[in-house]
Amino acid sequence: MSILLVTSSPRGAASHSTRVATDLAQKLLAADPSAKLVVHDLVANPLPHIDPDYATGIYMPAEARSQRQAEVVGVSDAVLDELFAADTIILATGFINFNISSTLKSWIDHVSRSGKTFAYGENGPKGLVTGKKVYIVLASGGIYSEGAAVQMDHAIPYLRGVLAFLGMTDVEVIRVEGVGMGADAVTAALAKATAKVDAIAAAAANADQAAAA
Ligand SMILES: Cc1cc2nc3c(=O)[nH]c(=O)nc-3n(C[C@H](O)[C@H](O)[C@H](O)COP(=O)(O)O)c2cc1C
Repeated sequence: MSILLVTSSPRGAASHSTRVATDLAQKLLAADPSAKLVVHDLVANPLPHIDPDYATGIYMPAEARSQRQAEVVGVSDAVLDELFAADTIILATGFINFNISSTLKSWIDHVSRSGKTFAYGENGPKGLVTGKKVYIVLASGGIYSEGAAVQMDHAIPYLRGVLAFLGMTDVEVIRVEGVGMGADAVTAALAKATAKVDAIAAAAANADQAAAA
């Protein structure tokens, strides 16, 4: 198994999403020591915003691209290689201005490639990134899974939608929510998220044992 961990918090070592997502990656590794982990920190190694050379270059045959077009499309190709090589993908993001972090949005822009990760056929759009398990770890100051602010959650519906469009429908969400509501709320949010991480890791260990038996 190969795990791709994509982190994107702008808050460095204080990030709850990075901490919980890293904990999940480590526990999945412990469940399957033969697994490989690739970490892409989108703040330390950000992807460029897509630009005119990208938006034209992706629709051209490789041999027709200018040097700059080849460079910017090459960035996307490398990110796609990371994505396709993974069986399990962990996407970690803070809830920033009611949506995902802009660095993760840039990652989405680079992995959404016509003819590579989706295609249009007689039956409409078809996602080409299949057979992946995706975990989303979302940390938010407020609570958006229930209550009055549910309609302000533009992160999880967006991610679920675009991932499904690309073929990734096996998606599980781990929320670290309400962390802006005081120290007790942070403790409770982390405990709830960690309990979910532990349940996921235990299920993965059981599945590995069953497969080996
Ligand atoms: C620039 C910025 C914008 C934020 N916007 C929101 C927001 O719209 N709603 C919210 O509930 N929390 C918001 N927060 C709080 C973050 O969601 C919270 O700090 C969360 O823990 C960030 O994830 P991280 O810990 O992985 O960095 C914002 C934080 C920052 C730094």
